Amino acid sequence: MAAPRILSGIKPTGRPHLGNYFGMMQPGIAWQEKGEAFYFIADYHAFTTVHTPADLRDHSRSVALDFLACGLDPQKAVLFRQSDVPEVTELAWLLTCLTPMPMLENCHAYKDQVAKGVVPSHGVFAYPVLMAADILLYNSNIVPVGKDQKQHVEVTRDLAEKANRLFGPIFTVPQPSIVPEMATVLGLDGQKMSKSYNNTIGLFEEEKALRKKVMSIVTDSQPVEAPKDPAASSIVALYKLVASPDQVTQMEADFRAGGTGYGDFKKRLFEGIWEHFAPFRARRAELAADPAILDAILADGARRARAVALPTMERVRKAMGFGP
Ligand code: TYM
Repeated sequence: MAAPRILSGIKPTGRPHLGNYFGMMQPGIAWQEKGEAFYFIADYHAFTTVHTPADLRDHSRSVALDFLACGLDPQKAVLFRQSDVPEVTELAWLLTCLTPMPMLENCHAYKDQVAKGVVPSHGVFAYPVLMAADILLYNSNIVPVGKDQKQHVEVTRDLAEKANRLFGPIFTVPQPSIVPEMATVLGLDGQKMSKSYNNTIGLFEEEKALRKKVMSIVTDSQPVEAPKDPAASSIVALYKLVASPDQVTQMEADFRAGGTGYGDFKKRLFEGIWEHFAPFRARRAELAADPAILDAILADGARRARAVALPTMERVRKAMGFGP
């Protein structure tokens, strides 16, 4: 069997957080060994909310550097900016014309905004269609994502199947890949970690800021002496992501035994996060020192991404009835 095509994206709406890292970046980096991996900086998606040009540009570069620093190998995987292959917006339009409105009315980003009383933009409404275009343009088999994106991959599958019924087998039908233990990383307040909940821990926080954030994790008000339930604690849940199995077993035992306060557990968690990302911090500083390195990687990524995207668009236009 041919090597699978793996594809995923991340929005440059700010710097990545632990949810992005464990939900998508780390699994994506593991996948680069097993197939042809394509990862992109979803700047068109970020434009649903980021309307300051300098921020969009800076965040796009920063997120790309973060991904490289964490181990994305541009020799193995293709790293590119979504907007460097603008054909994706053409495919999004074609798919839009096949998308029933109720399918999008059901999607959570749009529903959340309506529930909050915000008037959503057309971009937020159509967001899952652009995502489908990303996935289908590159003939992707596997899409590594966190659980919050599963619904969008399902929309993509439905649209691909519908197009294939109408126009012949033009699209590969993709599968999501979700690592169960990392499907939903919890934030400082115990809800899903998300920029929109303002409860995130960044991968590359300064030491003092990171310590302050970890110390602000919300806990119950059990006294130091009381035995505590490790299964109910987001401190333990986060520690599992960065600590060794022995360290986790020790923390769980100390929770159950009583006699240790949440402050102590938080200090251990801080150490765990700080050490986990130490090698990546060093690598990031090296990469950031010479902007030409990133420029070259992104230019090469755009070239390799276009080499897949252009033949897809030719096939799709022809099958749908466009052109001579
Ligand atoms: P974004 O930038 O919101 O999130 C990037 C990835 O991080 C995952 N994630 C989480 N995983 C576990 N726990 C969390 N708390 C958590 N928070 C975020 C997300 O599931 C995601 O995988 N729409 C996408 C970007 C995108 C894309 C695509 C992805 C655009 N086109 C095509 C795959 C295929 C997004 O919202 O990314």
